[in-house]
Amino acid sequence: MPGTALSARAVFRRFWPFTRGDRRWLAVSSVLLVGAAACDAYAVSLFAKIVDNALRSGDISGFWRPAATWVGVATLSSFLVFGGTYLTERTGERFLLRLRTKVFAHLHRQPPGFFESRRPGDLIARLTDDVDTVERFVGSGVVQVITALFSVVFFAGYALYLSWELALAAFVVVPLFALVTRKFAQHINRRSREQRALNGDITAILEESLANVTVVQSCNRQPAESARLRSAGLRMLATNLSIARLSGLYAPVVHLAQTVSVLAVIGLGAWEIASGRISLGGVLAFAAILSSLYAPVQQLGQLRVMASAAATGSERIIELLDAQSPLVDGPRSLPRARGLIRMQSVDFRYADTQSPVLEGFTIEIHPGELLAITGASGAGKSTIAKLLLRFYDPSAGTITLDGVDLRDLTLASLRSNIALVSQQTQMFHTTIYDNIAFGSPSVTYDNVVNAAVQADAHDFITALPEGYETIIGQHGHGLSGGQRQRLAIARAVVADTPILVLDEPTASLDAASADRLLGPLRRLASGRTTILITHDQRLTAHADRVLTLLATPAALRPLQ
Ligand SMILES: Nc1ncnc2c1ncn2[C@@H]1O[C@H](COP(=O)(O)OP(=O)(O)OP(=O)(O)O)[C@@H](O)[C@H]1O
Ligand SMILES: [Mg+2]
Repeated sequence: MPGTALSARAVFRRFWPFTRGDRRWLAVSSVLLVGAAACDAYAVSLFAKIVDNALRSGDISGFWRPAATWVGVATLSSFLVFGGTYLTERTGERFLLRLRTKVFAHLHRQPPGFFESRRPGDLIARLTDDVDTVERFVGSGVVQVITALFSVVFFAGYALYLSWELALAAFVVVPLFALVTRKFAQHINRRSREQRALNGDITAILEESLANVTVVQSCNRQPAESARLRSAGLRMLATNLSIARLSGLYAPVVHLAQTVSVLAVIGLGAWEIASGRISLGGVLAFAAILSSLYAPVQQLGQLRVMASAAATGSERIIELLDAQSPLVDGPRSLPRARGLIRMQSVDFRYADTQSPVLEGFTIEIHPGELLAITGASGAGKSTIAKLLLRFYDPSAGTITLDGVDLRDLTLASLRSNIALVSQQTQMFHTTIYDNIAFGSPSVTYDNVVNAAVQADAHDFITALPEGYETIIGQHGHGLSGGQRQRLAIARAVVADTPILVLDEPTASLDAASADRLLGPLRRLASGRTTILITHDQRLTAHADRVLTLLATPAALRPLQ
């Protein structure tokens, strides 16, 4: 991935808005955890008291009071820690939910062209693992930083109060610690980028390979596919091990610096005790403080390191969030169209291609007309359908519906006027009923059954053991191509839109089934403006008009 790493501040600024609604809880959990840290610092002072008043003098009477207080403080601290960590987790999870939903919704606003250059698996990885890394930094990370900072302040403040000489001696290692953390963070940052990208690769391989399982098996490519996954896995392994080495080294290095500073303090402490400036309890408390300081300081360092991992995950999410769809919503909402479609001198070419698919294409389709479009494969028939649904905008010329430029309409109102039965039927992993009702969630059961009857699908559906409640696979597994096609037609019938676009509706049907579909299609088309893309002579025979598209240079372009 190109570009420089995002700073922790930039990541923070970008994702902080996703904590909206939960900031109160972030504050509450911070207060609880800071309270727990204060309890811990207080416990150290009780320890010093016990050493000086009971242990040194061997007088048990000096033990009970501080010991009882210590138990009370420890109990309070446990409750605070429980409340604080649970609330942190809760806000973190809610942050995750909000961010993922937002990125997903944003992806759904992108035109099909956006997805053509991207692998679904990589997008899935961004919506799962990358979103996670951001949450760990911005969601729960905030509370950890606040708590760790306060812990440092409490313990360091107490250390200074006990003996500023010892404290200064102990703090000499702080710049060294900062330097070490910085170096580690830089190295881990570089590896994290590779790790995030490889994670996307692996999910993409899994997704693609499993989605194409039939091709893989029919071509005997299972070993090759496993090898492909293994090779990406090996790269991931190397990267992860390198990260593990770095973070594995980090803790011992910091620990070593910590040990040196504790020993220096104890040495210095012996001298201070001799000169009567501090008690033994004071020195022991001091050593305990330094050990307690170790945890939050190391946590801060680790958060710094984690921030670099979050930065790379964030880059991958920001890239999606910053994608601007070229299809801007128009201002007008069209309730129910009459169905007059005009394409005027339309030029269109797909991005990154040389030759235009359509050049100066002009046509007027009247309300209620059934227009059949035929022509060579690659001539641009499906492209016309996509332009009408505004999956793309023409590079020149205009398309109007009822006299209104499509670009002046809201995408939602345009598309609610058109039902599309596309060349590749698309199904969801749910019941047949839900698949038919997909575009029209408020229809009744009778509407769905009627639509299935009209689409000649009712008989095969009721022959299935679960009828309309049969769950079909995501790609319509369990159904034949023709059955899927009929479900797609039923989906269009239910939608009851004034405009209908059918792209090769009989392509996967045998002659008898195609004949059976003629009636339903005619019933469906009557009273609607219908664009019927087909090579089927029996269908074109019923059209009011037949348009034959000539192959364009794009269609004849040699495949690369
Ligand atoms: N997403 C795309 N990106 C780039 N080129 C595309 C894209 N989709 C289609 N094309 C090209 O545009 C031309 C028209 O494609 P289109 O799908 O409209 O053809 P068609 O007439 O529907 O063909 P068929 O009868 O095979 O379905 C083809 O040459 C195709 O290679
Ligand atoms: Mg096509």
